[in-house]
Amino acid sequence: NASGPMMYSVDGFRITVTGRGAHGASPHSSIDPINIAVHVYLALEALIALLVDCREAGGKPYACSAYRSYETQAALFEDKLGRVRATGLDESLAYIEAARSVARPGTSEHQSGLCVDFMSDAQSTLDNGFEGTMGFRWLSENAYKYGFILRYPKDKTDVTSYDYESWHYRFVGRYHATAIAESGLCFEEYLNSMEK
Ligand code: DAL
Ligand code: ZN
Repeated sequence: NASGPMMYSVDGFRITVTGRGAHGASPHSSIDPINIAVHVYLALEALIALLVDCREAGGKPYACSAYRSYETQAALFEDKLGRVRATGLDESLAYIEAARSVARPGTSEHQSGLCVDFMSDAQSTLDNGFEGTMGFRWLSENAYKYGFILRYPKDKTDVTSYDYESWHYRFVGRYHATAIAESGLCFEEYLNSMEK
C-alpha cells in the first residue's frame, strides 16, 4: 500500500494499518475493522491472563504502553529524533538512527493495538535492564502460551531493522506464537517462511 496508512475507527480506537514499508511485509494488510476489533479484544484477554499468571509465579511486570494513536507515535518519534539530532548526527542519519528504536508514525505495531511494552516493579525505565527481572525470565519461557512473541529479538536486529527490545511483545495468537517459539524464527522470517 504505497498510498500511506489506512485508518480504521473501531469502538473509538483509531487503528492504523500499514502497507509494505521500510520494515518489510505488514501482517495487517488485508484484515478488516471487525477482524481488528476481535484481535485486539483477544490480545487484551490474553494479556490479562498473562499478567495474572506471571504475578502468581512471582514476577512483577506491568504493561506500560499498548495501543498508541498516530499522534502519540508521531510525538514519540519527534522526541527521539530530537535527542538523536542533539548528538550531532546529520539529518538523514539522525532519521535512520531514530527509526531503529522508535517506529516512524504510521508504521508502529503499537498502532494496531496488538503490542505491549512491559516494565516491572523492579524496572521502571524502558530499557534492556528489563532482562534482569523475574518478569522477563518468565515471559521468555511462557509468553508464547498466551499468544505473545518477543517482537525484536537480540540476534535478529538485521532482520527486524529494530534494535533489541527485551520489553516489547506482540500478540499473534497461540498457534503462531507456539510455531515461532519452536522454530526460533523472528516474525519477519516466520512470515516469509509461510509465503513459500
Ligand atoms: N519501539 C517500537 C519499535 C515502536 O515504536 O513501535
Ligand atoms: Zn513497544
